[in-house]
Amino acid sequence: MERKEFGRRRAQLMRLLGRDSIAIVPAAPVRRRNGDIPYAYRQDSYFHYLTGFPEPEAVAVLLPGRPQGEYLLFVRERDRLKEDWDGPRSGPDGAVGLFGADDAFPIVDIDEILPGLMEGRSRICYSMGAHEEFDPRVLGWVNALRVQARHGVSAPQEIAALAHVIDDLRLYKSRAEQAALRKAAQVTVGALRRAMRFARPGAMEYEVLAEVVHEFKRHNADPAYHPIVAGGANACTMHYSANDAVLGEGDLLLLDAGCELDCYAADVTRTFPVGGRFSPAQRAVYEVVLRAQLAAIDKARAGNHWNDPHEAAVRVVTHGLVEIGLLKGRPASLIKTGAYREFFGHRTGHWLGLDVHDVGDYKVGGEWRVLEPGMSLTVEPGIYIRPSTKVPKEFWNIGVRIEDDLLIGRDGPEVLTAALEKEADAIERLVQAS
Ligand code: GLY
Ligand code: MN
Ligand code: MN
Repeated sequence: MERKEFGRRRAQLMRLLGRDSIAIVPAAPVRRRNGDIPYAYRQDSYFHYLTGFPEPEAVAVLLPGRPQGEYLLFVRERDRLKEDWDGPRSGPDGAVGLFGADDAFPIVDIDEILPGLMEGRSRICYSMGAHEEFDPRVLGWVNALRVQARHGVSAPQEIAALAHVIDDLRLYKSRAEQAALRKAAQVTVGALRRAMRFARPGAMEYEVLAEVVHEFKRHNADPAYHPIVAGGANACTMHYSANDAVLGEGDLLLLDAGCELDCYAADVTRTFPVGGRFSPAQRAVYEVVLRAQLAAIDKARAGNHWNDPHEAAVRVVTHGLVEIGLLKGRPASLIKTGAYREFFGHRTGHWLGLDVHDVGDYKVGGEWRVLEPGMSLTVEPGIYIRPSTKVPKEFWNIGVRIEDDLLIGRDGPEVLTAALEKEADAIERLVQAS
């Protein structure tokens, strides 16, 4: 991502916040896994969105209209010894020279400098509640200023929620973001295809996972979330995460994985027969989910509402469940009573971006949001059939989900993951080609 893109975002945000505001955005902390071992570092999505600065122990401060500089960074100082252990740091000079800050200071000086920057601004824009260790410090700085009020210091009167304002910017993906999403989608398509070729009866779910991760890492990408590699009945557990079972001859495998590349996520699901052939019952369910997904994608158009794709999917799934005999009654009333939820209990998608479940309101003023060009979302209907006396045995434990990533365009949706096989015959050919 080019440096000027981050500058554009800051400028946009500052226009929305106004000159009486100061925005404070901390970097993600290093999270401890155990002992002195940290988790792999992932920058906070908001901090990344505004700065592109990749290090921990940093704070961005935006001061709209400040003549001496609107964009300040507090960062770790250079430290020869620590850099020998943990790698290079930018330091304040790098924050200015490489990341475009108007000015930068050592993070250890923040207590001394930040209260002075708050003075005279009436509103602090900060995501209270999102940064456990940082919240009390912000309150401490404000309170310290308030105590000085009788000496004529004007302390901010209000702490306003910042995330919500940035969410409205993050919802519309720029050209560069769209390119990043396309890349993440492309790598994910390659990874799922590789895994689908590899999977066979007798293989372990984690071996399939290894194929996916190998392909991600080969492109310098990581999983954007813990992948779901769910063979047979495991597919009916929505958040199945053990990924440690053996794949049986007649099993379907539900594979839900997506990479994160340059901080942007993909999120894709394919369901396929590990033996290379759908049973008639599996194929019947698969065809319903596929029809539902295609109907939902067709509704993911600028001008439609957020819920239109879901409603389309619900209609097709309900009709399909009646056709194959799993639901009885009139589809219209089965939709009204929510009877379909026994088999399709989740929603049809979510926003996609820096976070796999990306930010942005789904309703505005009580109404479903209108889809607009530049928004990115997943479309992922499914049918999951638990054993039950009401269901013929050949349908037991079938779980099917099909998930693609979309970008809303002016002339319809762009399916970023369209290259990955999903027609039943094409899926069979791919799995058999292993
Ligand atoms: N993999 C999480 C989801 O599909 O939303
Ligand atoms: Mn998914
Ligand atoms: Mn998803």
